[in-house]
Amino acid sequence: MRILAIETSCDETALALLDAKGGLKKPAFKVLKSIVSSQIAIHRPWGGVVPNLAKREHIKNLPVVFGKLTENKKIKPDLLAVTVGPGLEPALWTGVEFAKELKKNIFKETPLIGANHLEGHLYSVLLGNKLALSKIFPAIAIIVSGGHTILLRVESLTKWKKLGETRDDAVGEAFDKVAKMLGLPYPGGPEIQKLASRGDSGAIVFPRPMLHDKNYDFSFSGLKTSVLYYLRDNPRVNEADVAASFQKAAVDVLVAKAIRAAKEYETRSVILSGGVAANSFLRETLGNAVREISRNFLVPPMSFNTDNAVMIAVAAYIQSLRKKKHAIRAQANLNL
Ligand code: KG4
Ligand code: ZN
Repeated sequence: MRILAIETSCDETALALLDAKGGLKKPAFKVLKSIVSSQIAIHRPWGGVVPNLAKREHIKNLPVVFGKLTENKKIKPDLLAVTVGPGLEPALWTGVEFAKELKKNIFKETPLIGANHLEGHLYSVLLGNKLALSKIFPAIAIIVSGGHTILLRVESLTKWKKLGETRDDAVGEAFDKVAKMLGLPYPGGPEIQKLASRGDSGAIVFPRPMLHDKNYDFSFSGLKTSVLYYLRDNPRVNEADVAASFQKAAVDVLVAKAIRAAKEYETRSVILSGGVAANSFLRETLGNAVREISRNFLVPPMSFNTDNAVMIAVAAYIQSLRKKKHAIRAQANLNL
Protein backbone atom coordinates (compact mmCIF):
# COMPACT_ATOMS: atom_id res chain seq x y z
CA MET A 1 0.00 0.00 0.00
CA ARG A 2 1.39 3.41 -1.01
CA ILE A 3 0.61 6.22 1.45
CA LEU A 4 0.87 9.96 0.94
CA ALA A 5 1.02 11.66 4.36
CA ILE A 6 0.84 15.28 5.47
CA GLU A 7 2.05 16.66 8.82
CA THR A 8 1.55 20.28 9.92
CA SER A 9 0.89 20.06 13.66
CA CYS A 10 3.61 22.50 14.70
CA ASP A 11 6.31 24.32 12.75
CA GLU A 12 7.37 21.72 10.19
CA THR A 13 5.57 21.40 6.86
CA ALA A 14 6.19 17.73 6.13
CA LEU A 15 5.05 15.39 3.36
CA ALA A 16 6.05 11.80 2.72
CA LEU A 17 5.43 8.89 0.40
CA LEU A 18 5.73 5.49 2.06
CA ASP A 19 5.19 1.91 0.95
CA ALA A 20 3.73 -0.27 3.71
CA LYS A 21 3.03 -3.98 3.84
CA GLY A 22 2.79 -6.89 6.28
CA GLY A 23 -0.34 -5.94 8.21
CA LEU A 24 -0.52 -5.85 12.00
CA LYS A 25 1.60 -9.01 12.37
CA LYS A 26 4.68 -8.09 10.37
CA PRO A 27 4.56 -4.45 9.36
CA ALA A 28 7.36 -3.37 7.05
CA PHE A 29 7.98 -0.01 5.46
CA LYS A 30 9.93 1.55 2.65
CA VAL A 31 10.37 5.31 2.63
CA LEU A 32 10.06 6.50 -0.96
CA LYS A 33 10.35 10.20 -0.20
CA SER A 34 10.25 12.43 2.85
CA ILE A 35 10.40 16.21 2.86
CA VAL A 36 10.47 18.35 6.00
CA SER A 37 10.34 22.08 5.39
CA SER A 38 11.30 23.72 8.64
CA GLN A 39 10.03 27.12 9.78
CA ILE A 40 12.69 27.50 12.47
CA ALA A 41 14.16 30.66 10.93
CA ILE A 42 10.70 32.31 10.87
CA HIS A 43 9.92 31.59 14.55
CA ARG A 44 13.43 32.06 15.96
CA PRO A 45 13.16 35.86 16.47
CA TRP A 46 10.12 35.21 18.71
CA GLY A 47 11.93 32.54 20.73
CA GLY A 48 9.24 29.92 20.04
CA VAL A 49 6.51 28.89 17.61
CA VAL A 50 3.91 31.57 16.85
CA PRO A 51 0.73 29.66 15.82
CA ASN A 52 -0.60 32.16 13.29
CA LEU A 53 2.81 32.57 11.67
CA ALA A 54 3.00 28.77 11.43
CA LYS A 55 -0.41 28.75 9.75
CA ARG A 56 0.65 31.36 7.19
CA GLU A 57 3.87 29.50 6.40
CA HIS A 58 2.15 26.10 6.09
CA ILE A 59 -0.37 27.56 3.63
CA LYS A 60 2.53 28.95 1.59
CA ASN A 61 4.72 25.83 1.87
CA LEU A 62 2.23 22.99 1.36
CA PRO A 63 1.80 23.33 -2.44
CA VAL A 64 5.55 23.87 -2.87
CA VAL A 65 6.46 20.79 -0.82
CA PHE A 66 3.77 18.77 -2.65
CA GLY A 67 5.33 19.81 -5.99
CA LYS A 68 8.76 18.72 -4.73
CA LEU A 69 7.43 15.41 -3.42
CA THR A 70 5.75 14.49 -6.69
CA GLU A 71 8.38 16.23 -8.87
CA ASN A 72 5.29 17.52 -10.65
CA LYS A 73 4.60 14.03 -12.01
CA LYS A 74 1.42 12.01 -11.54
CA ILE A 75 1.52 9.77 -8.47
CA LYS A 76 -1.00 7.13 -7.46
CA PRO A 77 -1.21 6.69 -3.68
CA ASP A 78 -3.60 4.08 -2.26
CA LEU A 79 -4.21 6.14 0.86
CA LEU A 80 -4.04 9.80 1.87
CA ALA A 81 -3.27 10.63 5.49
CA VAL A 82 -3.15 13.84 7.48
CA THR A 83 -2.30 14.63 11.10
CA VAL A 84 -5.52 15.72 12.81
CA GLY A 85 -4.01 16.23 16.30
CA PRO A 86 -2.71 16.88 18.83
CA GLY A 87 -0.97 20.14 17.96
CA LEU A 88 -1.51 23.82 17.29
CA GLU A 89 -5.05 24.27 16.00
CA PRO A 90 -4.29 26.82 13.23
CA ALA A 91 -1.35 24.71 12.03
CA LEU A 92 -3.32 21.44 12.04
CA TRP A 93 -6.14 23.14 10.16
CA THR A 94 -3.88 23.94 7.18
CA GLY A 95 -2.86 20.30 6.72
CA VAL A 96 -6.44 19.07 7.02
CA GLU A 97 -7.72 21.61 4.48
CA PHE A 98 -4.86 20.83 2.08
CA ALA A 99 -5.57 17.10 2.34
CA LYS A 100 -9.25 17.70 1.59
CA GLU A 101 -8.32 19.84 -1.42
CA LEU A 102 -5.98 17.13 -2.74
CA LYS A 103 -8.75 14.58 -2.45
CA LYS A 104 -11.30 16.83 -4.11
CA ASN A 105 -9.11 17.91 -7.01
CA ILE A 106 -6.48 15.23 -7.66
CA PHE A 107 -7.00 11.97 -5.77
CA LYS A 108 -10.80 11.68 -6.00
CA GLU A 109 -10.94 7.91 -5.54
CA THR A 110 -8.29 7.69 -2.81
CA PRO A 111 -9.49 7.31 0.79
CA LEU A 112 -8.36 10.02 3.23
CA ILE A 113 -7.81 9.20 6.88
CA GLY A 114 -6.83 11.22 9.95
CA ALA A 115 -3.74 10.28 11.93
CA ASN A 116 -2.79 10.92 15.54
CA HIS A 117 0.57 12.69 15.86
CA LEU A 118 1.42 10.84 19.08
CA GLU A 119 0.67 7.48 17.47
CA GLY A 120 3.04 8.62 14.74
CA HIS A 121 5.80 9.18 17.30
CA LEU A 122 5.06 5.85 18.97
CA TYR A 123 5.10 3.88 15.70
CA SER A 124 8.16 5.70 14.37
CA VAL A 125 10.31 3.02 16.08
CA LEU A 126 9.02 0.54 13.49
CA LEU A 127 11.06 2.41 10.87
CA GLY A 128 14.31 0.54 10.51
CA ASN A 129 13.25 -2.00 13.15
CA LYS A 130 14.59 -5.53 12.64
CA LEU A 131 12.98 -7.20 15.66
CA ALA A 132 9.91 -9.43 15.43
CA LEU A 133 6.92 -7.95 17.25
CA SER A 134 7.03 -10.88 19.67
CA LYS A 135 10.40 -9.53 20.88
CA ILE A 136 8.99 -6.04 21.39
CA PHE A 137 5.63 -6.47 23.13
CA PRO A 138 4.68 -6.00 25.86
CA ALA A 139 6.75 -2.81 25.91
CA ILE A 140 7.19 0.33 27.91
CA ALA A 141 7.12 3.36 25.65
CA ILE A 142 8.29 6.80 26.60
CA ILE A 143 7.26 9.59 24.25
CA VAL A 144 9.24 12.77 24.82
CA SER A 145 8.54 15.83 22.69
CA GLY A 146 8.03 19.57 22.83
CA GLY A 147 4.40 19.12 23.84
CA HIS A 148 4.31 15.75 25.63
CA THR A 149 6.06 13.48 28.09
CA ILE A 150 4.12 10.23 28.28
CA LEU A 151 4.91 6.80 29.67
CA LEU A 152 2.84 3.92 28.25
CA ARG A 153 2.55 0.23 28.71
CA VAL A 154 2.08 -1.10 25.18
CA GLU A 155 0.53 -4.56 24.74
CA SER A 156 0.49 -4.63 20.96
CA LEU A 157 0.44 -2.31 17.97
CA THR A 158 -3.14 -1.38 18.78
CA LYS A 159 -3.46 -1.66 22.55
CA TRP A 160 -1.83 0.40 25.27
CA LYS A 161 -2.41 2.03 28.62
CA LYS A 162 -1.08 5.37 29.77
CA LEU A 163 0.87 4.89 33.01
CA GLY A 164 1.86 8.51 33.52
CA GLU A 165 2.61 11.85 31.93
CA THR A 166 3.93 15.28 32.80
CA ARG A 167 1.91 17.36 35.21
CA ASP A 168 3.30 20.63 33.87
CA ASP A 169 5.98 21.26 31.22
CA ALA A 170 6.93 18.65 28.65
CA VAL A 171 10.60 17.69 28.76
CA GLY A 172 11.27 19.26 25.33
CA GLU A 173 9.64 22.46 26.56
CA ALA A 174 12.00 22.45 29.58
CA PHE A 175 15.00 22.07 27.23
CA ASP A 176 13.69 24.96 25.12
CA LYS A 177 13.08 27.21 28.14
CA VAL A 178 16.44 26.50 29.79
CA ALA A 179 18.12 27.19 26.44
CA LYS A 180 16.38 30.55 26.33
CA MET A 181 17.70 31.37 29.84
CA LEU A 182 21.19 30.60 28.56
CA GLY A 183 20.67 32.89 25.59
CA LEU A 184 20.56 30.01 23.09
CA PRO A 185 18.28 30.14 20.03
CA TYR A 186 15.04 28.18 19.46
CA PRO A 187 14.67 25.19 19.37
CA GLY A 188 16.79 24.79 22.46
CA GLY A 189 17.06 21.02 22.74
CA PRO A 190 19.87 20.51 20.21
CA GLU A 191 21.63 23.67 21.50
CA ILE A 192 21.58 22.39 25.10
CA GLN A 193 22.96 19.06 23.92
CA LYS A 194 25.81 20.80 22.07
CA LEU A 195 26.71 23.05 25.01
CA ALA A 196 26.35 20.19 27.51
CA SER A 197 28.95 18.12 25.64
CA ARG A 198 31.58 20.63 26.82
CA GLY A 199 30.33 20.75 30.42
CA ASP A 200 30.52 18.72 33.63
CA SER A 201 27.18 17.05 34.38
CA GLY A 202 28.17 16.63 38.03
CA ALA A 203 29.05 20.30 38.56
CA ILE A 204 25.63 21.37 39.85
CA VAL A 205 23.06 19.17 41.57
CA PHE A 206 19.68 20.22 40.19
CA PRO A 207 16.54 18.55 41.60
CA ARG A 208 15.21 15.33 40.02
CA PRO A 209 11.48 16.06 40.26
CA MET A 210 9.23 13.13 41.24
CA LEU A 211 12.14 10.69 40.91
CA HIS A 212 11.14 8.78 44.01
CA ASP A 213 7.37 9.08 43.67
CA LYS A 214 5.67 5.73 43.25
CA ASN A 215 3.68 6.88 40.19
CA TYR A 216 4.83 7.31 36.58
CA ASP A 217 4.08 11.02 36.29
CA PHE A 218 6.68 13.67 35.58
CA SER A 219 7.18 17.33 36.40
CA PHE A 220 9.78 19.53 34.75
CA SER A 221 8.67 23.02 35.68
CA GLY A 222 10.45 22.97 39.09
CA LEU A 223 13.69 21.84 37.46
CA LYS A 224 13.43 24.69 34.98
CA THR A 225 12.82 27.18 37.81
CA SER A 226 15.80 25.95 39.80
CA VAL A 227 18.02 26.52 36.76
CA LEU A 228 16.60 30.05 36.57
CA TYR A 229 17.42 30.73 40.25
CA TYR A 230 20.84 29.16 39.93
CA LEU A 231 21.69 31.43 37.00
CA ARG A 232 20.40 34.48 38.88
CA ASP A 233 22.49 33.64 41.97
CA ASN A 234 25.62 32.52 40.10
CA PRO A 235 26.04 34.89 37.15
CA ARG A 236 29.66 33.87 36.56
CA VAL A 237 28.97 30.15 36.30
CA ASN A 238 30.28 28.08 33.40
CA GLU A 239 27.18 27.79 31.20
CA ALA A 240 28.29 24.45 29.73
CA ASP A 241 28.19 23.02 33.28
CA VAL A 242 24.63 24.33 33.71
CA ALA A 243 23.52 22.75 30.42
CA ALA A 244 25.18 19.41 31.25
CA SER A 245 23.83 19.32 34.82
CA PHE A 246 20.29 20.23 33.68
CA GLN A 247 20.38 17.62 30.90
CA LYS A 248 21.59 14.98 33.37
CA ALA A 249 18.81 15.80 35.87
CA ALA A 250 16.09 15.54 33.19
CA VAL A 251 17.51 12.33 31.70
CA ASP A 252 17.96 10.71 35.14
CA VAL A 253 14.23 11.03 35.84
CA LEU A 254 13.16 9.74 32.41
CA VAL A 255 15.52 6.76 32.60
CA ALA A 256 14.68 5.85 36.21
CA LYS A 257 10.93 5.82 35.55
CA ALA A 258 11.16 3.92 32.26
CA ILE A 259 13.39 1.26 33.82
CA ARG A 260 11.19 0.92 36.91
CA ALA A 261 8.13 0.47 34.68
CA ALA A 262 9.90 -2.09 32.47
CA LYS A 263 10.74 -4.13 35.56
CA GLU A 264 7.35 -3.76 37.23
CA TYR A 265 5.43 -4.76 34.10
CA GLU A 266 8.02 -7.31 32.94
CA THR A 267 8.12 -5.94 29.43
CA ARG A 268 10.30 -7.26 26.62
CA SER A 269 11.42 -3.86 25.46
CA VAL A 270 11.61 -0.15 26.07
CA ILE A 271 10.65 2.23 23.28
CA LEU A 272 11.94 5.82 23.16
CA SER A 273 10.46 8.31 20.69
CA GLY A 274 9.50 11.95 20.08
CA GLY A 275 11.71 14.94 19.30
CA VAL A 276 13.76 14.69 22.51
CA ALA A 277 14.70 11.12 21.52
CA ALA A 278 17.13 12.87 19.15
CA ASN A 279 19.17 13.70 22.27
CA SER A 280 22.21 11.43 22.12
CA PHE A 281 22.84 11.56 25.88
CA LEU A 282 19.28 10.33 26.53
CA ARG A 283 19.54 7.65 23.79
CA GLU A 284 22.83 6.35 25.20
CA THR A 285 21.90 6.51 28.88
CA LEU A 286 18.50 4.87 28.43
CA GLY A 287 19.86 2.36 25.90
CA ASN A 288 22.57 1.24 28.33
CA ALA A 289 20.15 0.99 31.25
CA VAL A 290 17.72 -1.08 29.16
CA ARG A 291 20.43 -3.46 28.00
CA GLU A 292 21.57 -3.84 31.60
CA ILE A 293 18.18 -5.31 32.51
CA SER A 294 18.33 -7.50 29.37
CA ARG A 295 15.48 -5.92 27.45
CA ASN A 296 15.39 -4.73 23.86
CA PHE A 297 15.78 -1.02 23.24
CA LEU A 298 13.98 0.63 20.34
CA VAL A 299 14.50 4.16 19.13
CA PRO A 300 13.71 5.60 15.68
CA PRO A 301 16.47 6.34 13.18
CA MET A 302 17.81 9.88 13.72
CA SER A 303 15.83 11.54 10.92
CA PHE A 304 12.46 10.34 12.28
CA ASN A 305 12.69 11.63 15.87
CA THR A 306 11.56 15.18 15.32
CA ASP A 307 8.34 15.86 13.43
CA ASN A 308 8.07 14.29 9.99
CA ALA A 309 5.37 12.86 7.74
CA VAL A 310 6.83 9.35 7.43
CA MET A 311 5.71 8.52 10.98
CA ILE A 312 2.25 9.87 10.08
CA ALA A 313 2.12 7.50 7.10
CA VAL A 314 3.05 4.61 9.43
CA ALA A 315 0.32 5.62 11.90
CA ALA A 316 -2.15 5.89 9.02
CA TYR A 317 -1.24 2.41 7.76
CA ILE A 318 -1.91 0.87 11.16
CA GLN A 319 -5.03 3.00 11.56
CA SER A 320 -6.30 1.78 8.18
CA LEU A 321 -6.14 -1.81 9.46
CA ARG A 322 -8.28 -0.94 12.49
CA LYS A 323 -11.96 -0.20 12.89
CA LYS A 324 -11.57 3.00 14.93
CA LYS A 325 -11.10 6.09 12.77
CA HIS A 326 -10.27 9.69 13.62
CA ALA A 327 -12.54 12.45 12.29
CA ILE A 328 -10.97 14.59 9.55
CA ARG A 329 -10.82 17.91 11.38
CA ALA A 330 -8.21 19.71 13.49
CA GLN A 331 -8.29 18.30 17.02
CA ALA A 332 -5.73 20.28 19.03
CA ASN A 333 -6.15 18.15 22.16
CA LEU A 334 -6.44 14.69 20.64
CA ASN A 335 -5.10 12.11 23.09
CA LEU A 336 -3.45 8.75 22.72
O1 KG4 B 1 8.46 15.81 18.34
P1 KG4 B 1 8.89 17.19 18.11
O2 KG4 B 1 9.63 17.51 16.83
O3 KG4 B 1 7.67 18.17 18.15
C1 KG4 B 1 6.60 17.98 19.04
O4 KG4 B 1 5.76 17.08 18.76
O5 KG4 B 1 6.63 18.68 20.07
O6 KG4 B 1 9.77 17.63 19.36
C2 KG4 B 1 10.37 18.89 19.42
C3 KG4 B 1 11.11 19.02 20.73
C4 KG4 B 1 11.62 20.43 21.00
O7 KG4 B 1 11.31 20.79 22.32
C5 KG4 B 1 13.12 20.28 20.80
O8 KG4 B 1 13.89 21.18 21.57
C6 KG4 B 1 13.35 18.86 21.24
O9 KG4 B 1 12.27 18.15 20.72
N1 KG4 B 1 14.62 18.33 20.75
C7 KG4 B 1 15.66 17.99 21.55
C8 KG4 B 1 16.71 17.58 20.70
N2 KG4 B 1 16.27 17.67 19.41
C9 KG4 B 1 14.98 18.13 19.46
N3 KG4 B 1 15.77 18.00 22.89
C10 KG4 B 1 16.93 17.61 23.42
N4 KG4 B 1 18.01 17.22 22.68
C11 KG4 B 1 17.94 17.20 21.32
N5 KG4 B 1 18.98 16.81 20.60
ZN1 ZN C 1 6.03 15.69 17.50
